[in-house]
Amino acid sequence: MEMDQLVALCKRRGFLFQSSEIYGGLNGFWDYGPLGAELKRNIKECWWRSMTQLRDDVVGLDASIIMHPRIWEASGHTSTFSDLMVDCLLTKKRFRADQIEPQSGTVYFYSGATDAGSGKESKDAFSVLLPAGKPPESARKAATQFYQQRGLEKPTPLGERTEAVLNTTRYNPENGSLLTEPRPFNLMLKTYVGPVESADNVSYLRPETAQAIFVQFKNALEVSRQRVPFGICQIGKAFRNEINPRNFTFRSREFEQMELEYFIRPDEVVQKVAGSVASLAGSQPSTLNPQPNWGWELWHKYWVEQRMHWYESIGLGRDRLVEYWQKKEELAHYAKATVDILYKFPFGTQELEGIAARGDFDLAQHQKFSGKSMEYFDEEAKAKYVPHVIEPSAGVDRLALALICNAYCEDEAPDEKGKLETRVVMRFHPRIAPIKVAVFPLLKNKPTLVQKAKEVRELLRPHMSVFYDEAGAIGRRYRRQDEAGTPYGVTIDFDTLGEQGPELKDTVTLRDRDTMKQERVKITELAPRLLEKLR
Ligand code: GAP
Repeated sequence: MEMDQLVALCKRRGFLFQSSEIYGGLNGFWDYGPLGAELKRNIKECWWRSMTQLRDDVVGLDASIIMHPRIWEASGHTSTFSDLMVDCLLTKKRFRADQIEPQSGTVYFYSGATDAGSGKESKDAFSVLLPAGKPPESARKAATQFYQQRGLEKPTPLGERTEAVLNTTRYNPENGSLLTEPRPFNLMLKTYVGPVESADNVSYLRPETAQAIFVQFKNALEVSRQRVPFGICQIGKAFRNEINPRNFTFRSREFEQMELEYFIRPDEVVQKVAGSVASLAGSQPSTLNPQPNWGWELWHKYWVEQRMHWYESIGLGRDRLVEYWQKKEELAHYAKATVDILYKFPFGTQELEGIAARGDFDLAQHQKFSGKSMEYFDEEAKAKYVPHVIEPSAGVDRLALALICNAYCEDEAPDEKGKLETRVVMRFHPRIAPIKVAVFPLLKNKPTLVQKAKEVRELLRPHMSVFYDEAGAIGRRYRRQDEAGTPYGVTIDFDTLGEQGPELKDTVTLRDRDTMKQERVKITELAPRLLEKLR
C-alpha cells in the first residue's frame, strides 16, 4: 500500500484533515475528522483503562500544558532539547542535519565574485555539489544566484576549482547548494504569560507530559496513599517546533502523548529489603508477577512486555512491531536502558513508543531546582530515598497512524449482481474501531422496517457507537462501513417483522466485516454478543 493512497482515504473518509486547510494548511498540524476523532478517543480510552483503571498501582493526572519555566531548566529542556539544523545558503530552507542523506559527485568551489558593471565584489566563499553527469554550467548558475543575493547585479564567480567527493552531507539534496554549519535549534515553542511580552514572562508549551508528573509526584503520592512501586500516568498534548515535520502525522508540531512514570525502589533498597536483587538473565517477565526482589532491570523488561501485550490487544501483531534495545552510545545521558517499540510503517520502521529506565534523574533535578524534597519514606525499608523511574512513553498520533496503516486492506467482494469487485476494508480491531456497529433497514421506504431499525439503534446506542444508514442499496451501505472499519453490520428485514413466519420474528442478520459472513441473531442477544467482542 502506498502512503498517498492512505492519505487520500484519510481525507475522503474523514480520519484526518490538514489543519487550517482553507488557508493553505499549517505545516506540522493536523485535525482529526469524525472517524479519526472516534479512533483517537478509543485509543486513549483503551490505554487509560489498561494503565490505571485495571491496575491497583497506577493513578492518573491531568496537568496544565503551560507550567513554570524553571521546570524546563531542571529537566534539561532549556539547554539541551534541540536538534542540529542546517540551512541552504541559496533558498534558506532548513533541514535537520541528521536527515541529510549522504551524496557523492563533484564539488565546484568559488572564492568570491566581482560585478564589472558596478565594480562591487564579494569575498564570500560558496560551493555547490553536482551529481555525475550534470554540466558545470549549472554550478556557475547556482553561484551566480548566490552572489546576486549578496547585492551583485551581474556577478562573475571567481576562483572556480573542483573536487570529487563521496558521501558528503554538507550539501542540499534538492539543489546541491552548500549548507550552513550545523547549529542547535531548541524545539520548545515559546509564548508569554500575562499582558507583557518581556523576557520575565517567557513560558513554553510543554514538549512532553512527563515533567508534570514528576513535579506533582509528592501531591499525587499523598492523596492516593500509594506505596513504591507505583505509577502516575497522564494523557495530553505536547508541542515541539520540529524542523522538518514529515511522514503525514508521524512527526508533527502538536501531538498527544500517553506517558506513565512508574516509581520503583533503587536497587540498594531492594537488596536491603529482599536480601537480593533478581537479575534479568534467565527470567521471563511476561509470565512472572512483580516480586519484591525485582531491581530496575526486571521492572524495565516487565513494562516492555506489558506494552507489547497492549499493542497486540488492539490489533498490532508482534510481526508488525520491532523491540529495539538502544545501544549504550545511543542512550540519553540520564537513561540506564531504553527500548523503542517500532512499527513497520510504509515509509520505514519507526518509533511508536520509548520505554526508558531513567534512574532518579528527574526527581533529583526537581529537588535541586525547587528546593523541595522529593524523597519518599519507605516504611518497610525504614529508609528515605528518591525513587527511580521506568517510563513507557507513547504517542497517540503515531499510534493512530500505525493503526490506520495496519487496518488498510484490499480484497474482493461480490457486487449487487454477484460480480467480484475490489473492496477497501479497514480491519480495525473492534476495541478501537471508530464505529462499532452499523444498523440498516433493508428498505428505507417501508416504515415498519425503518421503525424497527431505529428501535435496534436505540437499544445498542447506550453501549457502543452506532451508525444508522438507510440510504442506497444494502451492498453499497456495507461497502461504506467496510471502508470506515465498522466491524459489525445489523440488517433489519422482513423476517425481523415476522412476515415469513414467527420463528424468525425479532431476529436480525449480523454481518462480520472481515469474513462478510452473516448469521441470524435475536435482537435481545445483540448487545451482549457485540459487547463480548468489544471489551
Ligand atoms: N518523556 C519522554 C519523551 O517524551 P520521546 O521519545 O521524545 O520521549 C515519546 O517521545 C513519544 O512521543 C514518541 O515515541 C512518539 O510516539 C511521540 N512523539 C514524539 N515526538 C513526536 C512528534 N513530533 N510527532 C508525533 N509524535 C511524537
